[in-house]
This record gives sequence, structure tokens and C-alpha cells, in this order.
Amino acid sequence: MLKKPIDIQSTLNNLHMPENLAIGLMVAEQKIKCQQIGCDFEYFGFAFGESPFPVMTRLEQELRKHTLDSNYASALGIEPLRSAVASFYNRVFQVKRRPEQIVVGLGTKMLVYMLLQILEGDVVIPTPAWIGYAPQAGMLGRAWHPLPLRKEDGYMIDPKALEHYLVSLPPCQHLLIINNPNNPTGVLYTKSELEEIVSVCRRNNTLILADEIYALTSYQYPDFVSLGQIYPEGTFVTGGLSKDRSAGGYRLGVLLMPEDSDVALVDAFEKLAATIYSSIPTPIQWAAIAAYEDHPSDYFYYDRVRNIHRIMGTTLSGMCNRINGLNATIPQGGFYYYLDFQELQAKLSSKGIETSNQLGKALLAHPYHIATVTGDAIMLPPGSFGARIAFVDYDGKAAYEHYERHTPKNEQEDIQFVRDMAPNMIEGVEAIKQFVMDLDS
Ligand SMILES: Cc1ncc(COP(=O)(O)O)c(C=O)c1O
Repeated sequence: MLKKPIDIQSTLNNLHMPENLAIGLMVAEQKIKCQQIGCDFEYFGFAFGESPFPVMTRLEQELRKHTLDSNYASALGIEPLRSAVASFYNRVFQVKRRPEQIVVGLGTKMLVYMLLQILEGDVVIPTPAWIGYAPQAGMLGRAWHPLPLRKEDGYMIDPKALEHYLVSLPPCQHLLIINNPNNPTGVLYTKSELEEIVSVCRRNNTLILADEIYALTSYQYPDFVSLGQIYPEGTFVTGGLSKDRSAGGYRLGVLLMPEDSDVALVDAFEKLAATIYSSIPTPIQWAAIAAYEDHPSDYFYYDRVRNIHRIMGTTLSGMCNRINGLNATIPQGGFYYYLDFQELQAKLSSKGIETSNQLGKALLAHPYHIATVTGDAIMLPPGSFGARIAFVDYDGKAAYEHYERHTPKNEQEDIQFVRDMAPNMIEGVEAIKQFVMDLDS
């Protein structure tokens, strides 16, 4: 036994478990409270954002073939994979980069972290935002600024407001993070909207980190345009296998450098990767080539997956919009929407719910059992009441197969599809409705 507890660096004091994982602990606590009153109800799982579908068959087959590739790989990724990624982005998104300008990393999360570590300057994060960016910037001691997005603007960046904002920042290089399609709002920017934002960035010494990890889930798929195409000289694009290929546990992400980027940037990534983790697992890299090749069966896969997300997201957000006092964004990609409780502020306050974090706790409490991600985690400004709804709590394999056999053809059939495949999520929305009605009691 040591004489005193082991000392931990105080720099970690401000770091908390990411909210989507912390919610697991909150749920466990709530279950104990429920058991004490004889309630053994499971919770409605709107908190976790993991694709429910099986991985693509070819990816799985390739992984089996490469189990014996046990040697370390190059820190930036094996060359055949970097070439496959370069061809994929050129073919699918018209983003032209050379294989040497591509970094394969330990999920997008690690690549974002490394980029924040490498680049000079301030970071601008439009909010609400994905739970990952701010804690990473904070951990690295980076200056970062929230850019609050307004409901009136559809939670999209207003180019004029952006310009005003950038001009007010210290006159150094900035990095603006744009997550498109967006987690948590489901917003998808059009080409012309992106072009306007890019003009502002060009004028204001601002680089863009385009987190496009949900790109292939865009419901009207041809509408997705990569910032890497519009602003080639100033955009870092990230993507990977976690979301549209349903393989989060493979932990494989990719980052594309800006066109004509300096070799020093690639060197910086190489040094960091080699110092921290040497290389990402070699068998996963060989398998991932399959996810970037041009293969007809992949188009069926992406098409089904994005259609099922569309059906779930449109149906459930529509149901939420029919609840008095709530406003849900209607997602256009990904598997989240943002549920705004702002109109209910006075009623929430009368029940002692004064912050969005408290709203999250109240939704989870008995008898509602609704797990969401709220408040600080999605970087809501103080005084805003809202929750991120992830709509992936169903059996993805069954839904995928059912969709193949009985493809819904209209709104009525979409609703029936959700009722058949995701009854738990329908009940979850009913529970949200009950929560809102009980605010009047
Ligand atoms: C917007 C966004 N970016 C990045 C990530 C991290 O993805 P990865 O699994 O590739 O690390 C996520 C995962 O939830 C996400 O939602």
C-alpha cells in the first residue's frame, strides 16, 4: 500500500468524460434509483450516436484475409490505402489530392486532435456542436471561440455574422470547424452557402476543418458538396469508417491536406503519429482499402443506409414538431436532430429546471427514462434549452433486411417502417410528449 494516493496531473482536472459516455453512468445511477421504487424499465436511448448497421460485407471479408499482417505500418498509413482514399475523394467528391497529402489515423477524433495540436492560431467552433471539439481544444490549451448559430438562420452559419465575428478576433490565422452534414442539427449546406462562407474565410485568413464524416449519409446524396472542392487551398477534410460505413470500432479515419500544402505539415503529422501510436492496426488498413474502392455493391449499401436514416430522422423529428412547445430540426443527413425546448423555458423554470444540463437530467428521471445529450456537452449557450436526439436505437441488421424486402414508397409507409423497426424510438417520442404535458401539471 502506498503512503499517499498517486498524484495525477492537475491539467486533467478540467477534463470530463465525454457526455455521450458519461450518460451511460447517469443511466446506471438512474436505474439504481428506479430499482429502489420497484421500476425496472429500460431507458429510451437517444444519446448514443453509433451506426446500427452491419459493416459492409467486403470490408469484413478483407479484414478476415489480413489477420496475419502483424507488422507495424507506416505512421501516415500504408501507401495502397492512401492511394485508394485519394482516388475515392477524386471520384466521389471531386476533391483532388495526391496520396502523399493523405493521413490515415486513429479515427477522425485523433486526427482532429492532431490537427489542433499542429496548427497555429485561434479555433472557431459554430455551436451547437459535436461534443468532441471543445474538450480537445481545451486540453491542448488552444484559444477557441464559440460562434453561436441561431434558430432563425436554421442553425447555419450566416456569412455576414461570420465576417463580423472573424474581424473581431485577434488578427492571426484562424481555423473554422464546419461539420457537414451536422451533428447535432442534421443540417446540410448547399454549394452556394458553402461558397459564401469560403469567400469570408479567404478574406479573413481563416482555414477550415471540414469534418465530413457523415458525407455519404446525406439523404439527398447528390446535394452534398465537399469543402475540399470549394476551398482546396484552405481546407482540411476529415472522414473515415465510423459513420457511413458503420465501423466505428475499426478506429480508422482519414485526413486530406489542403491542395499545395507544405511538406512540413505532412512531416508534423508523421512525427506526431510515430511518437504517439506508431501506426494504426495494419490489418484494419488493408481491409479499409475495400471501403474506398469503386464497387457497385457499395452503392446499394450507402443508398439503403442513408434512406433508413432519412426515414427514421424525418418521421421522428416530424413527431416531435407536433408536440406543443417543441421545435425539432428536420435532418438532411447523419443520424441526429436538435430538439429545441426554448419556448417552454417558463414552464421548465417553474419545475426548477433552469439549465439545459438540468433538462437532460429531468428527461432521464423516472418516469420518463429518456437519455439525450444536452447543454454544455453540445456547447449550447447559457440560457438555451435543447437536446440532441440520436435516432439509431434499433436493430440495424433487421431494418436493413426489411428495407430490402419492403422498401417504403411514401410517407405513410415510412411511418409504418419506423413503427415496425424502431417501436422503442416511437415510444421514446411519446415519453417526450408526456414530459412536456406534465410541465402543465
Ligand atoms: C461530427 C463528428 N466528428 C468526428 C467524430 C469521431 O469519429 P471517429 O469515430 O472517426 O473518431 C464523430 C463521432 O461521433 C462525430 O460525430
